[in-house]
Amino acid sequence: MGKDTLTIIDNRTGRTYEVPIFYGTYPKYGAAIRATDLRQIKVDEDDFGLMSYDPAFLNTASTRSRITFIDGERGILRYRGYPIEVLAERSTYLEVAYLLLHGELPTRSQLESWTHEIMHHTFIHESIKKFLDGFHYDAHPMGMLIGTVGALSTFYPEAKHIHDPAVRRRQIVRLIAKMPTIAAFAYRHSRGLPYVYPDNELSYTGNFLNMLFKTTELKYKPNPVLERALDVLFILHADHEQNCSTNVMRSIGSSHVDPYSAVAGAAAALYGPLHGGANEQVLRMLQEIGSKDRVPAYIRRVKAGEVLLMGFGHRVYKNYDPRAKIIKQVAYEVFEVTGTNPLLEIALELERIALEDEYFVTRRLYPNVDFYSGLIYQAMGFPVEMFPVLFAIPRTSGWLAHWEEMLQDPEQKISRPRQIYDGPDVRDYVPLEEREVRAPA
Ligand code: ACO
Repeated sequence: MGKDTLTIIDNRTGRTYEVPIFYGTYPKYGAAIRATDLRQIKVDEDDFGLMSYDPAFLNTASTRSRITFIDGERGILRYRGYPIEVLAERSTYLEVAYLLLHGELPTRSQLESWTHEIMHHTFIHESIKKFLDGFHYDAHPMGMLIGTVGALSTFYPEAKHIHDPAVRRRQIVRLIAKMPTIAAFAYRHSRGLPYVYPDNELSYTGNFLNMLFKTTELKYKPNPVLERALDVLFILHADHEQNCSTNVMRSIGSSHVDPYSAVAGAAAALYGPLHGGANEQVLRMLQEIGSKDRVPAYIRRVKAGEVLLMGFGHRVYKNYDPRAKIIKQVAYEVFEVTGTNPLLEIALELERIALEDEYFVTRRLYPNVDFYSGLIYQAMGFPVEMFPVLFAIPRTSGWLAHWEEMLQDPEQKISRPRQIYDGPDVRDYVPLEEREVRAPA
């Protein structure tokens, strides 16, 4: 092996440059040069210097991170070094949230005090209820969640002291604890049902189900299979390195705003149909297809570029998304309790055809995490509007882990990309009376 440098010849000037290459834990999946090392490449002294151009960050590492590793080619996902399959089988969501935030799995006593801490911050200020009451009866629960979590910053003004580790820690606990409460209250509001207060004797997901579905019973008893299924889904959704919403969390957080405002922004990014809104779109797509025999016609429309096959494809995974495999298994366990979701048949047929079809094979399009999660949520009684909310709750721990890491990284500054300006050169101002309609640029 030669030197860990890259030699660049600028053919405009004939000059040669040598820039260092550095590596992460896995040299094969994490070798990079610093984009700022390109700035020395100039035609003359007045030249700004060469930039790298990368719309949508297809090949740009925005940070070094110790939290999550993905190998999209081989379908590998690990949190802090632990394979997702092992965590989904052996851990709880709160244990995983602790792992993401602290870097290590908790000991028994650490887990007990962490769980106690989270479960004793689940209540929200009574004024937040009034706030939620202000939303229209058919408001989308994700819109309510985004607005309400952003409003939490007004209840905890200390949160802006983001350089104080104790203050940060308090807001992290509050956010992880209160997201399910806000989500459940948003759901109850949209149904016209009275809010159900948290029951801190239940587990994190058991309490969430209680706040969502409790009616007249004195004490809500969650079905253990559904409680565990939701916990596994929460583990699978907890983090996914530099995805769109996490990038937003880091970017907003880099301005040193409070974490409630940053989480509201990250949740807004998650709401989009290409990101966390995809599972809602999968369900709508399956409903639109309607029956197994109409699958081939739908695939033809996808291949003609008329529609996307929602729940398929991923920026990073060019193999089966490892989370989709686990979710498919969870789906069967849930259906044992709830009865099969009639849309499952259509989903299985779509997957079967797509995995054999040349269009999907050559583009390496496989089911992603959202393909089966919607079917489970629907079988558990959630309306489709709640799907992105069910993604935002567990992803909050991932967002916060990245926020912490970013704030402690001495290399990070306010996030501010460059651009290549393609607009007009300086021109004379045209007075209003002399302006003519011009073709749009
Ligand atoms: N259905 C049909 N064709 C697709 C799909 C799809 N779901 N996804 C990608 N393609 C095609 C593209 O049209 C493109 O074809 P071309 O080369 O002929 O132009 C090719 O596959 C490459 O796709 P890109 O758009 O370049 O992939 P990109 O990395 O930009 O997009 C994304 C990834 C947004 C996830 C995309 O696959 C998609 O829109 N999928 C559907 C939405 C979805 O399921 N999102 C959830 C993602 S997972 C998550 O956020 C939790």
